Amino acid sequence: MRGFNTLRRGSAPSHLGRLRLRTAAKPLRRQPAPPALIYSGREVKRSEALQPLSRDHHRGLFVAMGLKRATRETAPEARQAFLEFWRREGSKHFQIEEELVLPAYARYRSAEEEDVVRVLTDHVDLRRRGADLEEEEAPAVEALHELGERLESHIRHEERVLFPLIENVLPEEDLIELAAKVERAEKG
Ligand SMILES: [Fe+2]
Repeated sequence: MRGFNTLRRGSAPSHLGRLRLRTAAKPLRRQPAPPALIYSGREVKRSEALQPLSRDHHRGLFVAMGLKRATRETAPEARQAFLEFWRREGSKHFQIEEELVLPAYARYRSAEEEDVVRVLTDHVDLRRRGADLEEEEAPAVEALHELGERLESHIRHEERVLFPLIENVLPEEDLIELAAKVERAEKG
């Protein structure tokens, strides 16, 4: 789990601490911060710039769980939950990551890094599977399971590997700028 241990409890990079202090006086978001993400018993403090995307991830994981557990009886409900998630936030979420988050990271690191390429190829694969699900009103349960597993794995890669990398690599000024852009894009 490369990158995951870079944000241990109480050992967040110093620039994240400064970011929280500065943004506390003039918050970029009016909504309260989401509860900290808990992975394997560790608390991960997410930067302001990535918090809206982490909220989407929470909902995505819930949808993925429904897909993974789908039976013939629950398949229509799991399919519908995914499609609603996709139309309401999933599609825009992918767009924000591709247009704002990854380019901000690529300003400091290569766009050809494996962890970046994986996100992009995951997006193509998940878009394809989502489009198939839209077309197929009665999909095979196995297709739902596979979509759920891939969606969950994708989200966990971003939360455990990509987002910590971004928080470590981007300077404070860039994280603040990215936070404003992501907030505007989420509202738009
Ligand atoms: Fe994401």
